[in-house]
Amino acid sequence: MPRYMLLIDGVKREVDADADMPLLYALRGELAHKGPKFGCGLAQCGACTIILDGTATRSCVLPISAVGAAKIRTLDGLGTAGKPHPVQAAFIAEEAAQCGYCTNGWVMTTAAALEKNPHVTDDEIRTMLTGLKCRCGTHMSIMRAVRRAADAMVRATADTTLFTDATREA
Ligand code: FES
Ligand code: FES
Repeated sequence: MPRYMLLIDGVKREVDADADMPLLYALRGELAHKGPKFGCGLAQCGACTIILDGTATRSCVLPISAVGAAKIRTLDGLGTAGKPHPVQAAFIAEEAAQCGYCTNGWVMTTAAALEKNPHVTDDEIRTMLTGLKCRCGTHMSIMRAVRRAADAMVRATADTTLFTDATREA
C-alpha cells in the first residue's frame, strides 16, 4: 500500500492508503480530522469541504493520490476558540447552525471565497454557496452570517490599507 505525505493545516502527516481512497476517509478515519463530514459521498452536499491550495474542494470525491503537494486546510486549522476566523465568528454571532452537520461546508466554502474577494453582493453570495445543502433549513441565518463575514473582512482590509497609508506618510 503506498504511503502519502500530506500537508494539513501547516503540519506534515503521513498516511498509508490505497491510491483511490477519498481524501475525506484519510482525514477522518486515519488522521482524526473531524471537521470535514461525510454527507452524500457524491460531491452533492458540501459537508466534506476542505480548502485545497486556496480553493474549496469536496474531499469525498478527491482521491488521496491526486493531492500531491497541495496545501490542505481543514476546519480544525481555520481558527481557534480564542481567535476564530472571521467566518467562524460571523456564524457564531448569527447562530447559523441547528444540528451543525452541514456547517463545515458553509464555513469552508465561504472562507475560501471571501479570502479571495470579500467584496461580494448578496446575489454573488447565493451563487458562491450554490450546491451546499442544509437539511435543517438554516439558510436565512447562514446568509446573514456570510454577509456579516464579508462586511467584517472588507472592514479589516480597509483598516490595513489605512494603516499602510499612514505608515507610508509618517
Ligand atoms: S460528502 Fe462530499 S459533497 Fe457530500
Ligand atoms: S444545521 Fe443541520 S444540516 Fe444544516
